[in-house]
Amino acid sequence: MNITDFDIYKDLLKKASGLVLTQDKTYLIESRLNPLAKKWGYSDIAEMTNILRGVPPKELVIDIVEAMTTNETSFFRDSKPFDIFKETVLPYFKDKVGHSKKLRIWCAASSSGQEPYSLAMILKEEQAKMPGWTFEIVATDISHDILDQAKEGMYTQFEVQRGLPITLLMKYFTQDGDKWGINKDIKDMVQYKYFNLLENMIGLGKFDIVFCRNVLIYFDQPTKKEVMGNMHKLLPDDGFLFLGGAETVLGITDDFKAMPDNRGLYVKSVGTHVKAA
Ligand SMILES: C[S@@+](CC[C@H](N)C(=O)[O-])C[C@H]1O[C@@H](n2cnc3c(N)ncnc32)[C@H](O)[C@@H]1O
Repeated sequence: MNITDFDIYKDLLKKASGLVLTQDKTYLIESRLNPLAKKWGYSDIAEMTNILRGVPPKELVIDIVEAMTTNETSFFRDSKPFDIFKETVLPYFKDKVGHSKKLRIWCAASSSGQEPYSLAMILKEEQAKMPGWTFEIVATDISHDILDQAKEGMYTQFEVQRGLPITLLMKYFTQDGDKWGINKDIKDMVQYKYFNLLENMIGLGKFDIVFCRNVLIYFDQPTKKEVMGNMHKLLPDDGFLFLGGAETVLGITDDFKAMPDNRGLYVKSVGTHVKAA
């Protein structure tokens, strides 16, 4: 693929989704977009690229973004943030005097559902320690296909073997042929919605906790800053933000600060409820 054609995809993805495509990913464009070009009836990527030079159908742009997203995820991915959620964050709210006993959690790039369902399982397990509390998990993603998979809640043997303790598999999943389906009580705890992180977030409402893990790594610095700035507005002064292991606020935004000894957990810089770095 020549540089001019590469730039067409680079600009389209940046504008539509924030994803930054570097030249070394040319192979990714070719391997992922070849099947898409065929699906759209084009003879090859070059013909599809020509369409993009004009005013392309909106659905084609959506399909290109979907094809170029990376949906890698797993249950209890990196485990530690889920321990922190259970052992630090939930007890903080439980002990907070005057709290409404309603927790709203946003899983901001939820992929095929393993992350929000991991949170739902923790909440189910912890419910007895938090009587009278209600929990709402809103899970969003830019990919319609991946949201459909998440809503379906069916996982392969390989997927349930990655990070999911066997006790939770037995308790919250039902085997169906060669797949495992998440049980209705856990599924019903998660509301899925299409949402592009570049859009205005106000309509999503306020949250106590935001999980935005392993998506900002694909964005450039100004986009990361803007997204975190918008999340800052949705959180109360004592809200919590979880980022992925390869993500940070350092050198990007002053809106949040890291919680010492709690890798991946951030609080508002103005927040005073917990001692942070
Ligand atoms: C690597 S997965 C991370 C999933 C999960 N948070 C985790 O850590 O396991 C990244 C997800 O971000 C989604 N994504 C990429 N760009 C996005 C955007 N602009 N708005 C919302 N979601 C986006 C992708 O579709 C993908 O499902």
